[in-house]
Amino acid sequence: MERFYVTTPIYYVNAKPHLGHAYTTIVADCLNRFHKALGQETFFLTGTDEHGDKIVQAAEANGESPKAYVDRISGMFRDLYPSLGVEYDRFVRTTEPQHVGTVQTILQKVYDSGDIYFAEYTGLYCYGCERFYTEKELEDGLCPQHQKAPEEIKESNYFFRMSKYKDWLAEYIRANPQFIRPTRYAKEVLALLESGELEDLCISRPKHRLDWGIELPFDKDYVCYVWFDALINYLTGVDWPDGENFPKFWPGVQHFVAKDILKPHAVFWPTMLKAAGIDLYNSLNVHGYWLVDHTKMSKSLGNVISPLDMVERYGTSAFRYYLMREMHFGNDASFSEEGLVARLNADLANDLGNLFSRVLSMVHKYQGGTVPTPGAFTEEDEALMELGRESMQNFVQLFEHVEFSRALESLWEFVRAMNKYVDDMKPWALNKGGETERLGTVMYVLLEGMRKAAAFLWPVMPEACEQMLVQLQGAFDPMTLDLVQEATHWKGLAPGGELAKVSNLFPRVDWEKKQDEAPKPEPRQKKAKDRKESKKVDEKSAGDEGFIEFGDFQKLDLRVGTVTGGEKHPDADKLLRLDVDLGEMGKRQIIAGLAEFFTPEDLAGKQVVVVSNLKPRKLRGLESQGMILAVRTDQGMRLLTPTDSAPDGSRVS
Ligand code: MSP
Repeated sequence: MERFYVTTPIYYVNAKPHLGHAYTTIVADCLNRFHKALGQETFFLTGTDEHGDKIVQAAEANGESPKAYVDRISGMFRDLYPSLGVEYDRFVRTTEPQHVGTVQTILQKVYDSGDIYFAEYTGLYCYGCERFYTEKELEDGLCPQHQKAPEEIKESNYFFRMSKYKDWLAEYIRANPQFIRPTRYAKEVLALLESGELEDLCISRPKHRLDWGIELPFDKDYVCYVWFDALINYLTGVDWPDGENFPKFWPGVQHFVAKDILKPHAVFWPTMLKAAGIDLYNSLNVHGYWLVDHTKMSKSLGNVISPLDMVERYGTSAFRYYLMREMHFGNDASFSEEGLVARLNADLANDLGNLFSRVLSMVHKYQGGTVPTPGAFTEEDEALMELGRESMQNFVQLFEHVEFSRALESLWEFVRAMNKYVDDMKPWALNKGGETERLGTVMYVLLEGMRKAAAFLWPVMPEACEQMLVQLQGAFDPMTLDLVQEATHWKGLAPGGELAKVSNLFPRVDWEKKQDEAPKPEPRQKKAKDRKESKKVDEKSAGDEGFIEFGDFQKLDLRVGTVTGGEKHPDADKLLRLDVDLGEMGKRQIIAGLAEFFTPEDLAGKQVVVVSNLKPRKLRGLESQGMILAVRTDQGMRLLTPTDSAPDGSRVS
């Protein structure tokens, strides 16, 4: 029996799942189901990446321990998947003991083989990316991902002799065209390998800087670099080295990632495998970004698309269909809710939904609601069946080559042809003319074609297709799907079977109305009545003794930030205009009443505590985006500051 193993990246738990995570996971789920429907034994691995500075910073910013934080966010990913119709076989977490053991075994193996060495290194490090950058990789001296200047760090560390394998890897990529798909990404990797710039990989972090990681088995003062740890999840997932899944599913694995993590997957990972003496993966499949209004999704732009919102508004099947149909795998695509509605209305409601409701209602009206026995097929029937066969065969080929959009397009030719066949065969006229046998044949051709369409679309829209198949055959078991056989016959439906009376799977969506239903942003001005109400609540929660509830305190978002510059306020003697860096939350301009006590130069480089969610207000013409906490004493003003430096943006709790 053929086997299929598919993986998604293991997602960082420093943010809630969004559209991008949902997309790769849905792609993997579609392919997994597709291979199941081809009769193969499949394995689908996903999970969460839980070590590294980024996670520690996010946990601190939320006032949680790293462990409590990773448990919570990893749980959010697991909870999301059923509503996306995603059914994985194994969810791996990099903090689980089995994974820790696997990483340590591989580290020791590579160390023993001489491919890991110890050396001093000075480099430019971006905390956001958790990696060192070369000067050339920076954009105007800034990290291209975070637009922040990296810091120069000197450290003694362990290095993996990655550069030793660069010629071997280039050769391998050239000889194996399926290794990195689409081809343009293989070319990108080859250009990198040929540029002569590939260096050895620093694979450790000293514990004094970061201890949230997997300890190196050969030096307890260091933890493993998060990427070296994370990539190994693909082996943990199939229980390397001794589990029975490993020889079953490795090395035939298909990895799916977006272009942001091409280098770790196309360069670090194969060289790591080679050094550990493990066979290379079969293919790395690389897709583009989902953009929103042609820009990257980001928290600060407030344009992050929540997959759950989309599923709640349009259903799992329509959401999955839109994603698979709209993105040409490898290229970027632009997400728009209006575009989703347009696809839903045109492809699902008009073409597919309409076909189902029309044909089922005609069989009930003219033929008692059961599957008729077909008579001899005519030329027109054969033509439709031939078109169907071709479109199914194309679908299979294109899907296997990760060309999902074209595969769906090809299947839609068949769906549209069935609608046209209804118009051309005019079942209502056949009924009127008493041509019962011919009517039965026409209906059979359609019902069997609809069953095939539902079977082929099941990997993409499992929920809706299961309902369609139940409407046609009374029951459905995915194990009985056999897409290879489907394309070879036209007799899957047993005559006499009961058919559902109605089918209304994809009601049309009125975009104008839908926009009105969308949750409105909070009105800026509260009504007088609400103001009174909220005053009452505030008084109540403050209690008689002037106490506040813990929840009230939690409303304050206090953050640590660094003053990066500033000047005297041009129009106010007592005020300073200061620039404060709040890390991931960005830079703020804060107007503070500190000019009598400090000059901007006194404050530059100092860490302060900022009320970050104070509504911005203008002070003598300049907007203040927060407030710096300070204490007035007899001797003057004292600023609140952490005893030891804390990462900018950390939450004070
Ligand atoms: N933890 C690493 C991956 C380690 S794998 C051994 C990581 N995590 S991540 O949370 O940042 O996820 C990146 C992946 O999320 C992308 O490669 C892609 O699969 C998905 N996407 C995140 N944003 C995306 C878009 N805007 N568009 C499409 N997919 C994107 O990197």
